Amino acid sequence: MKIFIDSAIVKEIKQVFHWKLGDGVTTNPSLMKKAVDAGAAKNLKSYIIQILKSAGRTPVSLEVTETTAEGMINQGKAIYKLFKSYGNVYIKVPINPAFKSSDKNHLDGIKAIKALKKEGIPINCTLIFTPEQAYLAAKAGADFISPFAGRVDDYLRKKANIPFKKIDYYPAQGILRGGKVVQDGGIVSGVHLVKACVDVIKEYKFKTKVLAASLRNPLQIAEMVSVKADIATIPFSAIVAMREHPALTPILHFPKLRIKKKSIQKMLQHPKTFEGMKKFTADIVQEYVELIK
Ligand code: E4P
Repeated sequence: MKIFIDSAIVKEIKQVFHWKLGDGVTTNPSLMKKAVDAGAAKNLKSYIIQILKSAGRTPVSLEVTETTAEGMINQGKAIYKLFKSYGNVYIKVPINPAFKSSDKNHLDGIKAIKALKKEGIPINCTLIFTPEQAYLAAKAGADFISPFAGRVDDYLRKKANIPFKKIDYYPAQGILRGGKVVQDGGIVSGVHLVKACVDVIKEYKFKTKVLAASLRNPLQIAEMVSVKADIATIPFSAIVAMREHPALTPILHFPKLRIKKKSIQKMLQHPKTFEGMKKFTADIVQEYVELIK
């Protein structure tokens, strides 16, 4: 699983790439606001260039802010034109830019994705909350789809009247209330949503990558590995927490490990493996050895 940093703060991005943990960056309007409010981004254009450069050639998602197909297409083209020379900009388009059911722009995200893809612009389709949305985004040609795991957990907890903090862990298998699993259209947790998206992409053989988003704590991130998310985008604080969590460091380090012969020898060693070998060897039955000669 690749790791993107979910931040628009250059200092954080640089640190994660310095640790050699970064495979990309995701931003959204709220993260951009955080950087601007912190006074980090006095000149936004050159600030974004710093983000793109800090990420090397790895993908950086920049989100559109319009809510009509035309507006998003124009913004997507403009963002791409401004920053394409850095070679790593992805345009983040919401799957559906509507604010409510009675709005008329439910199809505009799909229209924008199709139009921008025709221009050869890479797309990250955001705000995915159902496998159906994942299917439609992938069919429209999105390179990445971003299911929002943490926000699904928030939604389910609200449904069940469970008080929570943003970083609280929510069990992947869901929770029972009154003998029934709390669910949203069959989805029982954020991890389950990501799995359902991975399954849809696999089933229909789309090339789209599943970018698990809205992740808040190390256990939830570890579960993203089990459900085979291609990428997890993680806030800086959670990356720090993962580095300090002994059970999770392999997730961070394995994909990038260039294994030297000497370290293979070391990796293969464990006292319980030694102990097991000694006991098995002591227990060898001669007839068995003869049989399998
Ligand atoms: C990433 O693409 C999303 O914008 C981000 O992960 C949302 O996270 P949040 O739900 O914690 O705001």
